[in-house]
Amino acid sequence: MKIFLDTAEIEEIRTAARWGVLDGVTTNPTLYAKVGGSYDALLAEICKITSGPVSAEVIAEDVEGMLTEGRHFAKLAPNIVVKVPMSETGLEAISRFADEGIKTNCTLVFSTNQGLLAAKAGASLISPFVGRLDDINQDGMTVIRELVEIFALYDIKAEVLAASIRHPLHVTQAALAGANIATLPFKVLQQMVHHPLTDKGIVQFRKDWDEARKAAAGKPA
Ligand code: E4P
Repeated sequence: MKIFLDTAEIEEIRTAARWGVLDGVTTNPTLYAKVGGSYDALLAEICKITSGPVSAEVIAEDVEGMLTEGRHFAKLAPNIVVKVPMSETGLEAISRFADEGIKTNCTLVFSTNQGLLAAKAGASLISPFVGRLDDINQDGMTVIRELVEIFALYDIKAEVLAASIRHPLHVTQAALAGANIATLPFKVLQQMVHHPLTDKGIVQFRKDWDEARKAAAGKPA
């Protein structure tokens, strides 16, 4: 499963890239609002850090507006993927982008049928929001599992991207459900690195090593 970072924070993206675990980045208007500045400049910077897909979300709600914004984003870097919300106009824009060879990520997907339609319209990435579904007492992972199964049954090329990930268990569950990608807040990525027994083990090994070296230094050669 590929791991994307769900952030617009450049330093977080640089860190994940240095760790060797970064396959791409997703942004959205809320994540952008946390950092501000020029969205174009931010996207261009992110695309320099990773050669993986970088999602840039359109704000327009009409087809022509979405196309104008998406074509503009697509010119910023070759790895830009235009993020289009699931809607009637969104499907039309996705279909038009596909005709133009511009890759899209259909966002705000909350049902298997929405994901199926987005894939048929030509989206490369389909983003079910797992956490927001869990928040309303629906099992978000079911949408991931069903889309993975349907895409395999009908040989549909779109990739299932588990979005709105809230904790490390979601990542494991998405991987087991067959998600092609999970996009994670940086905090969840950090949580995945750590385990109390690992941290305790590192401290103990260091202590034992230091004591052994001290003892060795006191002994004649
Ligand atoms: C990513 O593409 C989505 O926009 C993001 O995962 C949404 O996450 P949230 O539900 O935590 O806002």
